[in-house]
Amino acid sequence: MATRSSPINLKPETVNTPIVIAIDGPSASGKSTNSRLIAKGLGYAYVDTGAMFRAFAWFCLKRSVNVHDSTAVAAELRDWNATLECVDGQVRLLVDGYFPEKEIRTAETSAAVSPIAAVLEVRMWMKEAQRSCVKFGNLVMEGRDIGTHIFPETPLKFYLDASAEERSRRREAEGVKDDLAARDQRDSTRATAPLKIAADAIVINNAGETPQQTSERMLTEIRRLMAERK
Ligand code: DC
Repeated sequence: MATRSSPINLKPETVNTPIVIAIDGPSASGKSTNSRLIAKGLGYAYVDTGAMFRAFAWFCLKRSVNVHDSTAVAAELRDWNATLECVDGQVRLLVDGYFPEKEIRTAETSAAVSPIAAVLEVRMWMKEAQRSCVKFGNLVMEGRDIGTHIFPETPLKFYLDASAEERSRRREAEGVKDDLAARDQRDSTRATAPLKIAADAIVINNAGETPQQTSERMLTEIRRLMAERK
């Protein structure tokens, strides 16, 4: 993507364009907790792109679409009435004006989200919607391809990780039923925008750390990168 048309700017005092902090990593790698802490600490809007994919998976399930039929899934994009809003610093995707907060976290939605997230048309729709979030100001955006595909031009990229065992333990502790290994395998091997580490991402393995420790480490790196570019 051409940097000339980039919405990213690390000198907000000179040019008034939003800063984007990209946070990627596998399931249960601490993206949500740390992204929220960092967004709060910096006063940026928080965008959970997984929730956007989940909302579309929920919509497809509600309409009894076979989520493994990519043509049928792509056709649903024409029918869904989705809008973005930012409430209390959190960007949410509404479907027909409704935010399906609980519905997107069920085991059924979790199982359906990986196949729909592999559909090219869905990813194109999501990319446009996710890039449009700069209308809400500076962002902390978490997902699987934020640093590699959505905002590759941002120099503020993180890749969070922890061992598969540790990540499964975290999900169990949350009481969430989720086949992490299967989802990670699909998300990392799909043809379009698979989960991978951006060449210039800061990789943080946060096993054994508290979210406060991890987010502090990340904020230190953010301050360092911002100071370097002033
Ligand atoms: O972060 P999460 O577990 O809520 O994400 C749900 C699914 O959405 C995940 O299995 C992969 C997909 N996803 C994606 O492909 N790209 C993103 N930027 C975010 C999520």
